[in-house]
Amino acid sequence: MGKIAILYGSSGGNTEMVAKGIADLFDGDADLYNVEDISVNVIKPYKYLILGASTTGIGDLQDDWESFLPSFAKADLADKTVAIFALGDSASYSSSFAEAMKVMYDAIEGKTNIVGSVADEGYTYDDTLAVVDGRFVGLPIDEDNEYDLTDDRIGAWVDELKKIFV
Ligand SMILES: Cc1cc2nc3c(=O)[nH]c(=O)nc-3n(C[C@H](O)[C@H](O)[C@H](O)COP(=O)(O)O)c2cc1C
Repeated sequence: MGKIAILYGSSGGNTEMVAKGIADLFDGDADLYNVEDISVNVIKPYKYLILGASTTGIGDLQDDWESFLPSFAKADLADKTVAIFALGDSASYSSSFAEAMKVMYDAIEGKTNIVGSVADEGYTYDDTLAVVDGRFVGLPIDEDNEYDLTDDRIGAWVDELKKIFV
C-alpha cells in the first residue's frame, strides 16, 4: 500500500488516464481508486489524498464524484493533506473551465489542508470559478485541446507535491 490515495471519477476515460499518469510518477507511493467503486472508509489509512474529476454540465462535478462528495466531505479529513486536479475543455467550455475542482474545493475547504494550487499562466479561458486570487485551486488538464501539454503539466505538479507529501 502506498501513502497516497488518488480518488478519481471519469465519465469518458480522460480523467482515469490522467490519474494513472499521476500515479506512475509517484513510483509505487500512490494507490488508485475509482470513486464509483469505493466507500469513503478507503481513505482512512492515507495521510495524502489526490482528488481528480472531470467537469460536466456547466461547471458541474463528474457524476460519480458528485455522488461520493457528501460522504467524503463528512469524513474526518483534519489530519490529511489534499491536492485536487480537474479535467476540462477550455475551448468549448471557456467560461466554466475545469470548475469541477472548485466544487470539490468548496466542499472541503476549512476541513483539511489543501495544497497544489497552480498559476493560471499558460491557460487560455474566458472565465472560471476555479481560479482564486490568480491561481487555480488545483491542477487543470485539457485533454480536448492541449493533450500535448499534459505530461509536462502533471510532471511539474507531481514534482511540487513530492516536496509536500513526504
Ligand atoms: C456534457 C459535457 C459537459 C462539459 N462541461 C464542461 C464544463 O463546464 N467545463 C469544462 O471545462 N469542461 C467541460 N466538459 C469537458 C470535459 O470535462 C472534458 O472533455 C474531460 O476531458 C472529460 O473527462 P472524462 O473523460 O474523464 O469524463 C464537458 C464535457 C461534456 C461531455
